[in-house]
Amino acid sequence: MQLSVDLKEKSYDIIIERGVLDRIGDFADLDRKVLIISDDGVPMEYVHTVMRQCPNGYYHIVRQGEGAKSLPVYEVLCRRLLELNFTRTDCIIALGGGVIGDLAGFVASTYLRGIEFIGIPTTTLSQIDSSIGGKVAVNLDHVKNIIGSFYHPSVVLIDPETLRTLPGRHFVNGLVEAVKAGLIYDASILDLFEQGDPKAQVDEIIYRSLLVKKAVVEQDEKEKGLRKILNFGHTLGHGIESVYGLSQLLHGECVAIGMIPMLENEALKARVLRIYETLGIKSDVAYDPDKVFDVMQKDKKAQGDSITVVKVREAGKAVLEKIPKQQLYQFLKEIKPQS
Ligand SMILES: NC(=O)c1ccc[n+]([C@@H]2O[C@H](COP(=O)([O-])OP(=O)(O)OC[C@H]3O[C@@H](n4cnc5c(N)ncnc54)[C@H](O)[C@@H]3O)[C@@H](O)[C@H]2O)c1
Ligand SMILES: [Zn+2]
Repeated sequence: MQLSVDLKEKSYDIIIERGVLDRIGDFADLDRKVLIISDDGVPMEYVHTVMRQCPNGYYHIVRQGEGAKSLPVYEVLCRRLLELNFTRTDCIIALGGGVIGDLAGFVASTYLRGIEFIGIPTTTLSQIDSSIGGKVAVNLDHVKNIIGSFYHPSVVLIDPETLRTLPGRHFVNGLVEAVKAGLIYDASILDLFEQGDPKAQVDEIIYRSLLVKKAVVEQDEKEKGLRKILNFGHTLGHGIESVYGLSQLLHGECVAIGMIPMLENEALKARVLRIYETLGIKSDVAYDPDKVFDVMQKDKKAQGDSITVVKVREAGKAVLEKIPKQQLYQFLKEIKPQS
């Protein structure tokens, strides 16, 4: 399966194909210097598979985890490129999950004011969501994605075979973004989740979710309006993630919790909870609403008394709504199971 993200001179193709990891040369020029950036959680066999196809290939493996999205790691990578004399005609391959995509993409966007990068996402989260849309960034202190830019890859190669080795919890974590895509834009994605084992449907789930992201990003690349609907479940989700993210919960798990109170339709809510149950996602994680609300208050993006949130009343349709910030606190209390 193939789709193209149409952003004028920044347009690029996304290939979803089992085994494409072995055929990168069909879609990208590898006859130049290539630096593969990956992390030590990504199986080395994938790195070697890519290396075999690059006559002038190098690789750099960073330590896995959110900590890699940092200025010190960024600097190490830039220095490596400099030592290897990379020029603007050479390229970077981001081989890994969302952490590697964000980090390697940010390096690519700034080294020599921008060199080409190829995205090869290997987690459900990155294949469904983060590998397209052009947001690349690193964190500073504990503030996520605060240093970054909009920068697009030249091509994205998705090999669902790589998900074979992904731990189950991470597999499900990324699928939450597909449930989100279904709720805000394309209800047929929800049907896919109801047709049995999502593993068997995963190629189609990835494809249809990317179609949603493509449609939204093409209409609003820099998040001036419509693109905000992609933040469905993320306002509360990010709040929970910033308190519990590093220790206990993954991004998708927080978003799963955050979507529930924004569903203003009881039948749909029950439907989504059934999907969570099949996937084994817990929506009743205990957390402290006061602590979460406190962090949300401090969030620089949430200044003022009101905040715009995304709500869904009917599967496949999102609406933006301005609400008093205090209401978020009520939502947090509402979904919080007593701990
Ligand atoms: N740029 C965007 O638009 C965007 C959107 C959403 C999330 N993000 C970012 O994405 C990041 C999270 O991404 P993620 O969930 O992919 O996490 P991740 O990149 O940390 O990957 C999860 C874990 O899986 C391992 N792994 C990766 N591929 C594997 C494979 N095929 N087999 C076995 N193990 C594998 C990694 O080493 C890591 O330990 C966050 O930093 C988040 O901010 C970015
Ligand atoms: Zn997300």
